[in-house]
Amino acid sequence: MAPLLRTLAGIILGGMGARLLALLGRFHSSPHDARKKTSRRLFTRNAALGAAGVVLAELGAGFVVFFWPNRTGAFGSEITVPADQVPAVGDPPFRNAAGKFFLIHSEDGLMALYTKCPHLGCSVPYLANADPPFQCPCHGSHYNYVGERVAGPAPRPMDYMALSTDAEGNVIVDTGAISQRGAYAPDQTMTY
Ligand code: FES
Repeated sequence: MAPLLRTLAGIILGGMGARLLALLGRFHSSPHDARKKTSRRLFTRNAALGAAGVVLAELGAGFVVFFWPNRTGAFGSEITVPADQVPAVGDPPFRNAAGKFFLIHSEDGLMALYTKCPHLGCSVPYLANADPPFQCPCHGSHYNYVGERVAGPAPRPMDYMALSTDAEGNVIVDTGAISQRGAYAPDQTMTY
């Protein structure tokens, strides 16, 4: 079906192109010459060029659609955690897989921990019954509830993301604003 539509579009565009060229030709040649230029050969040539143009336009549009960034709700964008899903102090974290963060709530406040292990980049899971609760499966780095390293080869605590709130108490996590730290400090959290 698509090749047929493409051919029809090419014929239509080619015809239009031939007429346009004929009109332009009238400014530079006699009426007899203009009729010659709208010959079948000219029409066929422009139909072929039109079809090729349609194919190139389709390829270009597909390229743009494929590579156009679509960051809404994904890692790198701001992600909203609804107020009713924000954990209470000390509760298991809220996890957003697409945004690659855990939202934890310590006595100091909220913090969005980046799930990427600071050692070599594995994804760190939360283990509800483990102590400490964040344990990287790759090389055994362990982190406590606020992301401090307590064991393993990781060079620093888990990284964290910028937070803000809106008027309804929803928490907005900016997954494109990730900070590293040498140690935990309460001002890394957001009071909630
Ligand atoms: S990647 Fe996590 S400990 Fe190595």
